[in-house]
Amino acid sequence: MKKEILEALKQNKGKFISGEELSIKIGVTRTAIWKHIKQMKEDGYDIDAVSRRGYRLIQEPDTLELNELQIDMKTRLIGSNLIYYPSIDSTNNEAKKEAAAGAPEGTVIIADEQTGGRGRLGRQWVSPKGTGIWMSIILKPELEPAEAAKITQLTAASVATALRNVTGCEAGIKWPNDIIINKKKVCGILTEMSAELNSVNHIIVGMGINVNVDPEEFPEEVRSIATSVKESVGHEIYRKEIVLEILRIFEDLYLDFIRRKSIDKSVGICRKYSVTLGNQVRIISKDKVVYAEAVDLTEDGELLIRNEAGEIEKIISGEVSV
Ligand code: BTN
Repeated sequence: MKKEILEALKQNKGKFISGEELSIKIGVTRTAIWKHIKQMKEDGYDIDAVSRRGYRLIQEPDTLELNELQIDMKTRLIGSNLIYYPSIDSTNNEAKKEAAAGAPEGTVIIADEQTGGRGRLGRQWVSPKGTGIWMSIILKPELEPAEAAKITQLTAASVATALRNVTGCEAGIKWPNDIIINKKKVCGILTEMSAELNSVNHIIVGMGINVNVDPEEFPEEVRSIATSVKESVGHEIYRKEIVLEILRIFEDLYLDFIRRKSIDKSVGICRKYSVTLGNQVRIISKDKVVYAEAVDLTEDGELLIRNEAGEIEKIISGEVSV
């Protein structure tokens, strides 16, 4: 019922709607409406309650709860099954369990806080409550295991575009899986899969975006290389707006990829916003350190470099520093 009240208040945002009108619209007593509104105010909704005029929604809190997301979600596949946790160890871990239990493609797991967030290479991913987007998507594409990295490129393209669209910031993509603002990391992507020899069972793509995280919340050792959207744009941003924009763009790019079996659209975006291409880079791949110039991306999203001998090489994965 909270969803219906919220929907009615949102449709009339800034205007009063009487308790009677709400009770007729939703089919419950005025006392039930009042109780729900009281609960919503405790949850952080700024709602005016004035006798004889009714209720007026002034401001929603920055929440990622299901009601808030579902009311405004426009996608048909990505997020069609949406699972929210106020707190969980890791959305990627939870997505793995859900996928193994048969959750459909497009399932999105989102949490307000992660207590055991995981980064690449076994690192920890600090995910404080109420300030970031900690989210994983379950996909079941018909792919060979070696192609899973394409999903990372597609995700990077979606996140960078969404951040730019919502906030106007100059989000860049550091190949293969970091989103950068002002030379600092604002988002990391962790793509994991379950596969047979020749085919993927499912892919979990997790993204951690520091939206309103304050610098002192980052662990000491990453403080000089991590940033948040808030730090870059100078004010807090509603996380919901970014989530909805990511899911919308992700769905577009993913359906296009499935239909045409090409990620050229995503790669085009990765090229356009790349902070890697054209620079000298240090690549750590399979315990080998290589210095080279990042030249281009292939149409499958692999990195082309010019090595110290002047030859062009293709890099499929690795840790890159610019
Ligand atoms: C990295 O840059 O090392 C990747 C970080 C990925 C973090 C996200 S947060 C949501 C999802 N759940 C996790 O435990 N990790 C990913």
